[in-house]
Order: sequence, then structure tokens, then C-alpha cells
Amino acid sequence: MPAMSDNALVRYLPDLKVWVLTTERTSYAIGLNDRNELQSLYWGEKLESDRDFFPAHSRPEHASFDSSETMTNEEYPGWGGRYYNEPSLKVTLADGDRDLVLKYASHEIRGDTLVIRLKDIEYDLFVNLAYKVFPKEDIIRKQAEVENRTPQVVTLESAQSGVWYVPTGEGYRLTYLTGRWAGETQLIREPINPGMKVLESRRGNTSHALNPWFAIDEKGEADEEHGRVWFGALGWSGNWKLVVEDTPAAHQVRVTGGYNNFDFSWPLKPGESLNTPPYYGGFSGHGFGEASRLMHRFERDEILPDHAQPHLRPVLYNSWEATEFNVNEEGQKALAEKAARIGVELFVMDDGWFGRRNSDRAGLGDWFVNTQKFPNGLHPLISYVNSLGMKFGLWFEPEMVNPDSDLYRRHPDWAMNFPGRPRSEARNQLVLNMARDDVKEYIFGVLDKMLSENNIQYIKWDMNRHFGEPGWPEVPVAEQKEIWVKYTRNVYEIIDRLRAKHPSLEIESCSGGGGRVDLGILERVNEVWTSDNTEAFDRLRIQEGFSFAYTPKIMSAWVTDVPNLNGRSTPLKFRFLVAMQGALGIGANLNHWSPEDYALATQMVSTYKNIRETVQQGNLYRLFSPREGNQTANEYVSSDGKQAALFAFLHSQQFLWPAPTIYLRGLDESALYRIKTIDNKLADRQEVVSGSSLMHHGLNLNLRGDYDSTLIVLEKTE
Ligand code: DGJ
Repeated sequence: MPAMSDNALVRYLPDLKVWVLTTERTSYAIGLNDRNELQSLYWGEKLESDRDFFPAHSRPEHASFDSSETMTNEEYPGWGGRYYNEPSLKVTLADGDRDLVLKYASHEIRGDTLVIRLKDIEYDLFVNLAYKVFPKEDIIRKQAEVENRTPQVVTLESAQSGVWYVPTGEGYRLTYLTGRWAGETQLIREPINPGMKVLESRRGNTSHALNPWFAIDEKGEADEEHGRVWFGALGWSGNWKLVVEDTPAAHQVRVTGGYNNFDFSWPLKPGESLNTPPYYGGFSGHGFGEASRLMHRFERDEILPDHAQPHLRPVLYNSWEATEFNVNEEGQKALAEKAARIGVELFVMDDGWFGRRNSDRAGLGDWFVNTQKFPNGLHPLISYVNSLGMKFGLWFEPEMVNPDSDLYRRHPDWAMNFPGRPRSEARNQLVLNMARDDVKEYIFGVLDKMLSENNIQYIKWDMNRHFGEPGWPEVPVAEQKEIWVKYTRNVYEIIDRLRAKHPSLEIESCSGGGGRVDLGILERVNEVWTSDNTEAFDRLRIQEGFSFAYTPKIMSAWVTDVPNLNGRSTPLKFRFLVAMQGALGIGANLNHWSPEDYALATQMVSTYKNIRETVQQGNLYRLFSPREGNQTANEYVSSDGKQAALFAFLHSQQFLWPAPTIYLRGLDESALYRIKTIDNKLADRQEVVSGSSLMHHGLNLNLRGDYDSTLIVLEKTE
């Protein structure tokens, strides 16, 4: 039996035919049974001895009915034999055979990566399962490559990245994110019962409706601090699917994830292969708070484009809510001058600068500067913005076309369509078929030209409708359903090439708000637009849900004007403190601000700059949830532990009950912290308090009335 002294991230135990993947706090084990089938054996708290891993079980040979389900833990089940759960791979061969039985063929260990090669019992159809271990974040990435070495076409009808299994048992609870336009990332919790629960997108992008992230805890008992939580996420911005399944006979909870197999068909010719999206899984033994912090760290350290050398997000100004389509050189310069005064570092001009774009009815596709609005092009505005010490960013919606545009008049065939059928519009626009390589090259070309000719350091990349009539008549019928995958691949490729050619370029992913936020796009963008709903009180919930899966560093949050779109008005301070919990931006019409507003904004932006590293790169502790009571409180602790920032919000006061005591987390109990407040909301005014007192005695804040708020900054004394 191999000794545990072997600290390798990936180990093979030949006696047991077991592979063990080890992170700092978790173990993941898979093994072969005596029929050479690969089974999931364990995922959870780190096991300390190799004696803890057991060989895989055999599937009962002559079992009938339910007994086949006693072996429901196949690591990558093909649909074949007697298989009744969600398969990882479903195929039809050109000769009509649809039976697929995958068995172990070989394996290879390369440092932090294990590749296990499976093969069908008869055909030369292979699946290479790649596992990469991220030890610090307790996360493992699964990805499958399907390889056709048969002499015939093999049509893939479902190609999943893999399955995550939790220990067999009853009473698990699922947590996931749902929403809609202007109401994204709402947290939902529900029991997992026998059957399947499908989380998916059929819209062509990630979607506002559901996000490809899940968490599972036992008996609904985990909270922010305690309990076992298994979580996972897909890195794919096209049609995706997560099937959460509780198999009735064995009570085996499993989550299969990968490409959505709805309207999916991928003919693999001899010699071709298809890669599935990365599917990440992680485990926390200390509740949802730790699960989120692991995800945040993972995104910052491994996923985001600047992961090797992290940059802090700049404070940005965006013109959209102030001017909508009504942009011009003079108006944007006036806003830029005011934005610079309060400390903005990046000025972004939103929609309306191109083509005949005076409303959402025309212009998309014509990515040329509108010379009525900008008679001398964008240079005068950009150099003015730069002279104020700010970078310049610009809005594009590259994947779309208005029928009223020169591009559409020239290339009506570039919009996805089924010939002779209606072309449904949404926001008066059609979707360009980005799966076509000529369309991809054209879009890359116009964006590249704009970036080469202008000092544009930031693109807000928008996508304001979902697919409709996803036809691709130019390719053979058998390949037309590839549109779903090839579209997303080509969008990724354009972004990757733009970034390679313009290395200092930063990108914000936006899709009519938060419709494109996932670990696939996050490899390519620096920030995401969280929601078109910028109303601060609503934002508390949207941002809370967002924080379960995604780091606050990328969560673009603007301070905008009131009353907001739901009619609510909150004080400017409240709006700032809500937005300062992510990547702070300002989207208000600065022409309407009073001198007092400017004074407060200047103070808040400067305070934000003092704590932004803590907010963006630190550890988040959700102390009071906006879903559960009348107070929201979030604490951010810097990664070196020297600073903490506590944001607290009273929703509305009833009677004269004081806001509940807030117990801080993640501090050094024996250290002393100097307390700084931005106002007089701290009930006891001691200046230096011990970590132990802050965590166990807590803080009482004088929050009063409706939409009161405060920020407390703690600096650890030497
Ligand atoms: C939708 C985005 O979410 C908004 O922020 C804005 O950019 C508009 N599109 C512009 O059309």
C-alpha cells in the first residue's frame, strides 16, 4: 500500500486501481471495478491515509430492475447497456449503432493533471477525461475530449463534461441562482428529491434566468460558517446544462454538466474530436461562506485574464443612464470633466456613438463613428479624457445587427435564420451568425481597426437579445446544429485575438445586464455588468446572490440617480456604500448633482480607493443577508489580514428596535484593530478594539430610519 507521505496532487494506487486527487483540504477518488469501469469513489474532506480509499464495486451481473441502480456512480457513463440515468455521452454511429459502453484504456499523470482514457468495448471511440487539481482553492476541473478513431461518422447527441457525485443519502438541499432582466442572481434553495432538476440555458448565452453554478449541502443544515457544501460551475457562455439528479433506488445525488443537448448534434468525422466545457467542482467543510471564498480566490488566482499579475479594478464612469443614445463630443466632455473631479479613473462612453444610432431601432452593425455627433472622430474626446488622467472605454454590441443598418442591407444572410421563415426581432435587432467564420473575421476586423486607430483601453461588450430561429443554411444539414457551440467558440476567439493583439485592453462582459456571467467568459474579461437594475436596495439582493458564485472584484456596481426604475429613492451615501462592495462605478448624470453631492462623492471615491484592495482581493464574510431580515452586513478582510471593511445597511426601521449586534469574522483574535468610521454610527466610540471583542462581543451600530448605512474600516495595529 503506498504511503501517504507522497504529497503529489495526483496519485495512482495500483493495488486498489484507484486514483486520488488531493487539494489542501479535500480528496477526490476514482477507481476501476473488476469490469474495468471507472467509478467515482469519494469527494469531500481530505482523507489522511491510503487505507481510507476502497476499490470500486462491481455492477451486479444478473441483476434486474432497480439493482442496476446500485452502481450509479459511473464516472463518465456512456448511454448503452442498461443505463437509465443522465448519461455523459450519447452517440449514434453512421451504421445505426447507438450502444456505447466505455471502459478504462490507459492513463497518464502530468503534475497536477490526470488524464484517463476510456474506450468503447468495440469501436475505436475514445474519451479522454482530464482532471486538473487546484490545491489552494480545493477545486478540481473536469473536461472530456471525445475522439473518433473509427472509420465512420459518429454523431454526438449529448456531450457532457462529467458528473459530480455527493455521498449517497437522502435529504440534500440544492442552492442555485435564478433571475430575469433587472433581477439577476437571486438565490434559491430547495430540497433535492428523487428525479431530475434541470438548470440550463437554451438561449445561446449564459442567460439571466439561470446561472451555471450550484451548491449542495446536507439536510439543509449548512449555513455561512458551518456544514459540508459541495459546489460546482461550468465554464461555458453558450447553451449549457446542469442536471441535478437523485436516483430513486440508491438515493445517489449527482450533477451532470456540459453542453446542453437540446437541439444539439455534433457529427464527428473520422479523426476528429470534440472538447467539452470545463466543469469545476469544489468542497467546503465550513459552510457557504467558505465555499464562496474558495470560488472567489479561484477566479482571481486561476481564471481571470490578469490572474498572474492581478490589477485592481479602476473606478469607472459610464454614460448610459445619463445620456442614453444622446451622446456627442461636447456632452461627453462635460461629463468627463466632472467625473475626473470626483476621482474617476476610466471614462466609458456607452451606446449611441456609431452609425445612425439615435435609438435602439437602427445602427447596430455599423461600427463607424457617427460624424454628426463626433465631427472629428473620437480623437478629441479620447485625448481630452486622457488629459484628465482617465483611460477611455467604449461600448460595442458586436454580435448584433439592426435590420435598419448598412451591414444588414449588405449581408442579410449574416443574421441567423431559417430560409423563408420569419426573423423575430428583439429590441429591434437580429443575431449575427457568429458561427460563420466570415462573420467572425468581419467583426474581428472592425473591432481591431477601432482599437488600432483610437486609444481605447476598455470595451464594454454587450449582447442584448437571445437567439431566435438559429438556422445556418450555408452548411450541410447534419452540421447546422453546431451553431450553438461554434457561435460561442467564435465569440471567445475574437476576444482572445483582440486581447493578444492589444495586450493592455480590458473588457467588460454585459448582456442586457448580467446575462453573460460564467467561468468561460471570465477567462477573457476583467469585469462583468451585474444588472441593469442599479437601484441600490434591489442591488443588495442581486449582489448577495452574485457573491455566492463570483468574486466582488468583477462585480461592476454603479451609483446612479434616484428615483430609480422601480421608483425608489435611497440616499446618495447608501447608493455609494452598496456600489463600493464591488468594482465601483458611477452612472449618474453628473450635470444634475449639487455641490453637496460632489463633496460626498469625492469623499466616498477616496474612501473606496483606500479599501478597494480589501474589497476586490480580500475575503468576503456575509454577516446579515438581505433575504432574511431588516439589516444587511458584509465584511471584507484583506488577504494579509491587516485591514477589514464592514458595510452595514438598515433597510427600514420599525418601532425603535436597535439594529442587531454584528459579530465580525476572519480577524486575528489576539490583535488590536484601530476603528475608523465614515460617520457617527458606531454606538461605543472606542478607537482601538481587540479582534476577540469584535468577533465575540460584536459591534452595535446606530442605524436609524429608512435606508441608513455605514462603513467601518478596521486597521490592524502593529
Ligand atoms: C444594455 C446594458 O446592460 C446597458 O448597460 C447599456 O449598455 C445598454 N444595453 C445600451 O444599449
